[in-house]
Amino acid sequence: MDFKLSEDQKISTLKENVKHFIAVLSGKGGVGKTTVSVNLSTALAESGYNVGILDLDIHGPDIVRMLGGNAIPGVDEDERIVPAQILPNLKALSISMLVEEGKPIIWRGPLKHSAIKQFLGDTNWGQLDFMIFDLPPGTGDEALSLLQTLGNIDGIIVVTTPQRVALDDVRRAIAFVHSMNQKVLGIVENMSYMKCKDEIVYPFGKGGADKLAEEYNIPVLGRIPMDPKALELLDEGKPITLYYRGSEIEKSFRELAENVAKNVEK
Ligand SMILES: Nc1ncnc2c1ncn2[C@@H]1O[C@H](COP(=O)(O)OP(=O)(O)OP(=O)(O)O)[C@@H](O)[C@H]1O
Ligand SMILES: [Mg+2]
Repeated sequence: MDFKLSEDQKISTLKENVKHFIAVLSGKGGVGKTTVSVNLSTALAESGYNVGILDLDIHGPDIVRMLGGNAIPGVDEDERIVPAQILPNLKALSISMLVEEGKPIIWRGPLKHSAIKQFLGDTNWGQLDFMIFDLPPGTGDEALSLLQTLGNIDGIIVVTTPQRVALDDVRRAIAFVHSMNQKVLGIVENMSYMKCKDEIVYPFGKGGADKLAEEYNIPVLGRIPMDPKALELLDEGKPITLYYRGSEIEKSFRELAENVAKNVEK
């Protein structure tokens, strides 16, 4: 008799074990998806939730660089992947943990799709409150594979910067989410403002996220300030919520985590 679970059974088991699935998407590259995914994950973990973060940016995997730590994934007795343990209640998995550093990942759609299915169904994630997916920019194969594999998820966070808010690519990202019959959990405006001494400046303009939120009737879940020190820390693999305590940007990530937790419970 064959005791192997079917693909569908593996995904239903995952869905039984994970309370909330949240994907982080953007219309354009470089707006801060990975920064948001990583620091949202550490903030949620520090609030006591069991969290998993999965890097779905197959060609440009970045979470390890920003999350730090030397933990590596393992294999359990059922030959399932065991994600790397970053904190006692934070696990992470990225293709960059499995391939040689510096080597390009030249995979087309079907291969990416099967990798994503393995990261979901053939991985021992254990019991989680939140599973966060860091997506590549735009609405390509990875986002499609994720949503096709999991079906309905709790929500998708759309990250944008103020100057991009009004642009087509953000609207396209939102339209993609709706066309997949999924929910936009809310918008995160990254590089929303900058604090210079006691003055707040808006290098990329102001009010964009609010306009978008009003137009689509979705909440602004977070406004993340721009902070050069944060950039340095992220480059060194030091998540802001763990290594930059007391800063404005740390506070903004904690607020984001609170808002995300509140909004999924709705
Ligand atoms: N609020 C911020 N303040 C300062 N630097 C930031 C901030 N947000 C992001 N950065 C920096 O901007 C760069 C791009 O951010 P990030 O990699 O998170 O974007 P991304 O949307 O994931 O990019 P990609 O589309 O390539 O995946 C990184 O070097 C990051 O450290
Ligand atoms: Mg990224």
